Amino acid sequence: MPHGDYEKVRADIKAILKNEDYDDGSLAPVFLRLAWHASGTYDKSSSTGGSDGATMRFAPESTDGANAGLEHARAFLEPIKKANPWISYADLWTLAGCVGIEAMGGPRIPWTPGRSDKDGKKLSAKDVPPNGRLPDAAQGQDHVRDVFYRMGFNDREIVALIGAHAVGRCHPDRSGYDGPWTHTPTRFSNQYYKLLTTVNWVPREWDGPLQYRDDDDELMMLPADMAIVHDPKFKAIALEYAKDNDVFFKDFAAAFGKLIELGVPRQGGAGGGCPYAGAAQKPRL
Ligand code: HEM
Repeated sequence: MPHGDYEKVRADIKAILKNEDYDDGSLAPVFLRLAWHASGTYDKSSSTGGSDGATMRFAPESTDGANAGLEHARAFLEPIKKANPWISYADLWTLAGCVGIEAMGGPRIPWTPGRSDKDGKKLSAKDVPPNGRLPDAAQGQDHVRDVFYRMGFNDREIVALIGAHAVGRCHPDRSGYDGPWTHTPTRFSNQYYKLLTTVNWVPREWDGPLQYRDDDDELMMLPADMAIVHDPKFKAIALEYAKDNDVFFKDFAAAFGKLIELGVPRQGGAGGGCPYAGAAQKPRL
């Protein structure tokens, strides 16, 4: 396996995060979303999907509506791949998400190299996950559970992961939704839970899909975000994270570390929910 200086790649990623011409001035949120969508196709029952292979370079994953806009994230990382050709895209994309989280003030995510890229010339249809595995923002708690249970997550991990909506924004030309979840879309914190559980969210009247707005119509929540307060079990966890940022950071780091390992083959066993997972590669809980 080609091996190089990962600390240099971390530094290269960090150096491009600040970008005044892009969104709220940082590429970190879209890198975080790239790492999540590359990984979130995992299906534990068939051991398919996940970040290994970097299959988002290929159809139908590259053209999945859920991935609209992520071509920008991939293009921003292309010069770093050219400068460090030994790193796989799969490692680069997941690392960019982790570096982004940390640079926004979030926790250090456990990240291990070793993902490989599938060869586009030798692909068969089953090598690229089908569309429809990523969550649909228009749906509620049953759908959210279906999607994340399929990956092997529990309720606590689901609520922790969605807290990433503290950063970034929705783009009408990508998802059809519009606006940020918090007033600090480049600061990683438990703001999302504080707002979700205290603001009086009402349906926004606008020429677009159902989303919720705060009093000033500056912030938004998706129907799938509202599922977290509509479901009593999810809500209790969100209230805990709203109260305690340290607990959120600890749980988020573990859950995100697990997400980016899903389906990644590891020596001495396989990572991410594989029934043969060896002691060295137990999901990091
Ligand atoms: C029920 C689960 C989820 C749904 C339905 C959902 C849906 C969405 C949608 C519709 C957008 C807007 C995309 C755009 O217009 O550019 C978005 C953005 C984002 N999502 Fe999620 N998401 C979910 C879970 C997650 C998770 C688990 C993470 C990471 C751990 C995450 C991280 C992000 C980030 C960082 C952005 C902002 C991207 C940017 O600013 O370009 N989301 N999400």
